[in-house]
Amino acid sequence: MNTLSQEKLNEIRNSVDIVDVVSNYVSLTPRGKNFFGVCPFHDDNNPSMSVSQAKQMYRCFSCGATGSVFHFIRDYENISFSEAVKKVAEIGGVKVDIRSDKKIKNNIEYHEIYSLSLKYYMNNLNSKSGKEAREYLNNRNIDDTTIKEFQIGLSLDKRNSLSNLLIKKFKEKDILDSALVGKNDYGMYDFFQERIMFPLYDLNGKVVAYSGRIYNKEDSAKYFNTRETEVFKKGELLYNYHRARNVARMKNKIIIVEGFMDVIRMHTIGVKNVIAMMGTAVTDKQAHLIKRMAKEVILCFDGDSAGAKATKSCIDELSKIDVIPKVVRLEDKLDPDEYILKYGKDKFLRKIDNPINVIDFELSYYKEGKDLNSAEDKTLYIKQIIDEINKIDDEILKEVTIKKIVDETEIDESLIRSRIKKKTKKAKRDVINKLSKYEKAEKNLIYFMLKSDDVIKMYDKKVTFMPDSEYRLLAREISAYYHEYGFINEVDFMDYALTDDEFKQTLKKVNQNNKREEFTFEEIDDYINVIKEFNVNKAIKRMQKEIKDLTDPLEKAKIAQKIIELKKGV
Ligand code: CTP
Ligand code: MN
Repeated sequence: MNTLSQEKLNEIRNSVDIVDVVSNYVSLTPRGKNFFGVCPFHDDNNPSMSVSQAKQMYRCFSCGATGSVFHFIRDYENISFSEAVKKVAEIGGVKVDIRSDKKIKNNIEYHEIYSLSLKYYMNNLNSKSGKEAREYLNNRNIDDTTIKEFQIGLSLDKRNSLSNLLIKKFKEKDILDSALVGKNDYGMYDFFQERIMFPLYDLNGKVVAYSGRIYNKEDSAKYFNTRETEVFKKGELLYNYHRARNVARMKNKIIIVEGFMDVIRMHTIGVKNVIAMMGTAVTDKQAHLIKRMAKEVILCFDGDSAGAKATKSCIDELSKIDVIPKVVRLEDKLDPDEYILKYGKDKFLRKIDNPINVIDFELSYYKEGKDLNSAEDKTLYIKQIIDEINKIDDEILKEVTIKKIVDETEIDESLIRSRIKKKTKKAKRDVINKLSKYEKAEKNLIYFMLKSDDVIKMYDKKVTFMPDSEYRLLAREISAYYHEYGFINEVDFMDYALTDDEFKQTLKKVNQNNKREEFTFEEIDDYINVIKEFNVNKAIKRMQKEIKDLTDPLEKAKIAQKIIELKKGV
């Protein structure tokens, strides 16, 4: 939940018209009571996002994204809720003392500490003590322009030079919270000593952490990163996102590499639509960021076997949200940085411009380390490829791949075909239907609870327990909100609850593929009965288990009677 009062939020929200604000980002056309545009939050082909002037809300009928003007800006610009509120306040000319917001105040300190440390580190590299580090960078073909652009710096071979600087300006607690400084019995000490400092940025380009590289000795870890903090969460950011994002949108293409050195090198040859994973597996959050940047996604990880593995796991994570990337594999186990230095710009660009498709990558990935003359290896290989073929939607690609594997393994084509699942579309639809009975009831109930006090009252009276915890929590929150304010206003509720990521996801599901405005009380009763049925069935199951554990026939009979009564009630 946010820290500004609901009244203040309302004032800020009412200072602008959502239609004006959204049309700065998405072109809107009026239709009926609402305005319509292409939804920026999923891969939308026809306008499925509606913006309602009356309700001051947007809602995508297809992906379910919904909220007030704050959430639109927050999610479009990838900024925090508080920052979005601040933006709207600026547009609407409302004064907010955002500094009274404790979290934001802490973030301001954090950013000031980082901006001072950045100046300090960059300055060190230029100073006399930076000579060896500069030579190291120059030997790696990183020139002064690049050093400036990527704000590369240096931490000195001293125990507490940064701490001494920071303590003059900031409170000890804030300094320790920044994770740049630690404290032990001997006092404060700098976390980074004698390392080349690569700033790591948040999605808006603010420095929020560092990765420090050793340059003048061999022993300890090559890179050393700032630990995670309130502001720095590795799984939520992508190195170079803020620089790459617009170029990627323009070219509709984003290249993903492993290390930030690869990003830096690629910049020097003019490839700017590139981001780095920095050695971690792609999280769901990062996958969504990537999906929103561009349609074409190219994975160009290190050429070694670890890089191949990382490629495979990235493909799997991206395909969960229907992003099918393409793959570039570099020879001689090189990473992009080394490849460019060894083979030059042109050869690298040719590689990037000729990526292979996922299935061709997978063919060679699964072949790695196998001897196709051995029956065992061959069987495993065929199984693995058939699994992958079954994930492909594209019928032509499927055919091409079947042919390839038949040629390669000389296995009877009909045998392979017998293992290939028919069309995946129907299977997908079945899953939705199977989910539906209880979930549909929960979703619809919540959908209309947000629109009608009467539905909330029915929920309060008749529903004891929703089957799924996420819907249960959301429904309880809506009910609690209603009891606090005495009525439900959908957009107010959104501003109140939608800062919570879990609620956001759940509300998205609730709104997905739902366009309805009207309901009947009979249907609400139906939903409630379905939910009741779930609870009764659960109780029955529990009792049946209880009976099994009991030995006393009288006790058994008692419970059996209870089950019969429950069953009658269904
Ligand atoms: N990494 C890390 N900690 C390590 C090693 C690597 O955080 N101990 C991250 C870094 O963010 C790095 C990425 O993983 O950018 C890729 O690692 P690696 O391939 O080892 O680094 P290179 O990009 O090859 O760096 P360099 O060329 O400087 O050796
Ligand atoms: Mn490297």
